[in-house]
Amino acid sequence: MNEALCIALGVVVFLGLAMVGGAAAQEFDPVEDGRALVTMYCADCHATGATGSSPLLIAPRFRDLHKRYDVEFLSEALVEGIVTAHAEMPEFEFDPDQAAAIVAYLKTLEP
Ligand code: HEC
Repeated sequence: MNEALCIALGVVVFLGLAMVGGAAAQEFDPVEDGRALVTMYCADCHATGATGSSPLLIAPRFRDLHKRYDVEFLSEALVEGIVTAHAEMPEFEFDPDQAAAIVAYLKTLEP
């Protein structure tokens, strides 16, 4: 079993326990999680939704990313630290579950 899978399973188990014991029992929804993450971290520069243009014009609209590559590729980049040719974009490192959530959200933008 690879490390990412172990962590993912750990997260699932942890969330399962949290749901059993938690008053704030909430269903884990990766798409909503991903939407929250990109709204928090990326929306300053990128258009993160189905409409609108990027606040920073040279930052690609997230709904266009799939035209360039399979957004699944981003999952690894998001965990290892995504680096672009432009210094304007800060480096991010996410947990594997956060990266999966972001990718799940990005997939909802594909037609
Ligand atoms: C401060 C501005 C800024 C923020 C915040 C930002 N980006 Fe970017 N991003 C950019 C710019 C500028 C580019 C264009 C870079 C280029 O063309 O090399 C870019 C490009 C990208 C690309 C395309 C890279 C490529 O090589 O095709 C992806 C994917 C991306 N950003 C993801 C994200 C994600 C995910 C977040 C939030 C976690 C984020 N960005 C936050 C400015 C930003």
